Amino acid sequence: MAEHDVIELLVAQHGRIRDLFDEVEQAPPDKVGEAFERLTRLLSVHETAEEEIVHPYARRKLDNGQGVVADRLAEENKAKRLLLDLHKAGVDDARFWEGLAELRTAVTAHARSEERYEFAKLRARTSVAERRTMAAAVRAAESMAPTRPHPGTESMTKNVLMGTPMAVMDRARDMIRKALGKR
Ligand SMILES: [Fe+2]
Ligand SMILES: [Fe+2]
Repeated sequence: MAEHDVIELLVAQHGRIRDLFDEVEQAPPDKVGEAFERLTRLLSVHETAEEEIVHPYARRKLDNGQGVVADRLAEENKAKRLLLDLHKAGVDDARFWEGLAELRTAVTAHARSEERYEFAKLRARTSVAERRTMAAAVRAAESMAPTRPHPGTESMTKNVLMGTPMAVMDRARDMIRKALGKR
């Protein structure tokens, strides 16, 4: 996927996150762990990209940007906490499916709020060139989160892929800041 507009790219990621929840829920028992890892990686990279790239813009450019972004960050932090707890407990935990359902509800509501209250307004307040620059930074981090099993990239980024969600978020943040020329 090579969207050049950051909003289209992030909305496409919302769609893929939804598909990955479906894949975890529908996976045969021996594939649940792998599917959940892919979901975890994309969620970690996606939310980090929004926090580093899109929210700072929205904070500056939207009417009541501070308030809009504060609400989104509160939702993101809640989802992140649920993800970290669920990842720590693991797919064999007795309450895994309950936790997954709770995470899905939080993530879905959050994505809907972003699209409605943040992205739509941001589109009106940014230029095509700005959205293209932001998309490039999101794509730099996205390479860490293959959503399909892919032997080639697996070996290349093995250390990252095996990491905890926190490690993936840290690494994504570094890649994004580098892409934005911040370090
Ligand atoms: Fe988000
Ligand atoms: Fe999002």
